[in-house]
Amino acid sequence: MLQAPSQKALIPFVSVENMMRLVHHIGVEAFLEELAGVIEDDFRRWGAFDKTPRVASHSREGVIELMPTSDGEIYSFKYVNGHPKNMAHGLQTVTAFGLLAEVSTGYPVLLTEMTLLTALRTAATSAMAARHLARNGARTMALIGNGAQAEFQALAMKAVLGIEHVRLYDIDPAATEKTIRNLAGSGLSVTGCRSSQAAIEGAEIITTCTADKQFATILTDNMIGAGVHINAIGGDCPGKTELHRDILLRADTFVEYPPQTRIEGEIQQMAPDYPVTELWQVVTGLTHGRRDDRQITLFDSVGFAIEDFSALRYVRERLRGTDFYQEIDIIADPDDPRDLFGMLQRAKA
Ligand SMILES: NC(=O)c1ccc[n+]([C@@H]2O[C@H](COP(=O)([O-])OP(=O)(O)OC[C@H]3O[C@@H](n4cnc5c(N)ncnc54)[C@H](O)[C@@H]3O)[C@@H](O)[C@H]2O)c1
Repeated sequence: MLQAPSQKALIPFVSVENMMRLVHHIGVEAFLEELAGVIEDDFRRWGAFDKTPRVASHSREGVIELMPTSDGEIYSFKYVNGHPKNMAHGLQTVTAFGLLAEVSTGYPVLLTEMTLLTALRTAATSAMAARHLARNGARTMALIGNGAQAEFQALAMKAVLGIEHVRLYDIDPAATEKTIRNLAGSGLSVTGCRSSQAAIEGAEIITTCTADKQFATILTDNMIGAGVHINAIGGDCPGKTELHRDILLRADTFVEYPPQTRIEGEIQQMAPDYPVTELWQVVTGLTHGRRDDRQITLFDSVGFAIEDFSALRYVRERLRGTDFYQEIDIIADPDDPRDLFGMLQRAKA
């Protein structure tokens, strides 16, 4: 009989099924709120991290990206794709998985699905940014693009900011109906709208999370009133934006990591030295977020590796004492570390 792998070979693996169980065990809103706190903590120690724009492999249909970072003790990476046309074939626009490893040995310590986790961390990051950038007492948000990310965005803004009303618009009414159905019973009052113009009425926060592989104009300048906070998450690839550039000229723009955002974000429409503020500087109090009630703030979100690092370390922490994972042997464990060939013989018939 084949010798069983030793403890050294095993790492916890969180399948999609187990991630779903973990999220419900904690509660979706509690998960989003706690994760927003963990992401904020990591933004507070921004200087501790290795940072690089993600490594993107572009094709006509979409993009496949690797997103690595490390704080010197733990290393993480995420594999993620973005394929707007997938939906028409019954596939998701975004799927992901990721890994945490110990820097001291290089050994992985967690492998997990990250499709759900990406939606959760993106929403938690949006809400964390809005806590610093939106007007105090904001209660109404517009959500334009009602796809996979939508409910997570709405629930994070509720959990972290106390948003009460959500106004939805999508070019596909079926997407809006799906979101209304999913948010029923959440405590949010939800209104489906027939246009973006109608959706943004009375909204203090406008989230755009559409998917289209082009320079789109989801919002135009005349739609944006004084004091609004725009949370733009769908413009996240070269050639893929959501806002008319005139909005940027009136707004103060906050970003995750400028070298990546200048390639992928809304600001790819602007000059390479277009002024932006890094969100971590707001979080640490080095600079201010919102100055007054008339300022237009824009979080030009593209998604950065440190947010995935935070999400992975949060999941690792929350897995302790649960059975929401399987142990899989992805590390070779020869009896003598130099005898890898000898280990291979364990499986010889
Ligand atoms: N910034 C980040 O960290 C981050 C993270 C995850 C996803 N994203 C991006 O967010 C976007 C949404 O992701 P998803 O997984 O929800 O995609 P999805 O394909 O599930 O949903 C996108 C929705 O946008 C709608 N839409 C497209 N064009 C529109 C328009 N002009 N007006 C209104 N609605 C429109 C589609 O009908 C669809 O329902 C994608 O572009 C994705 O790449 C960003």
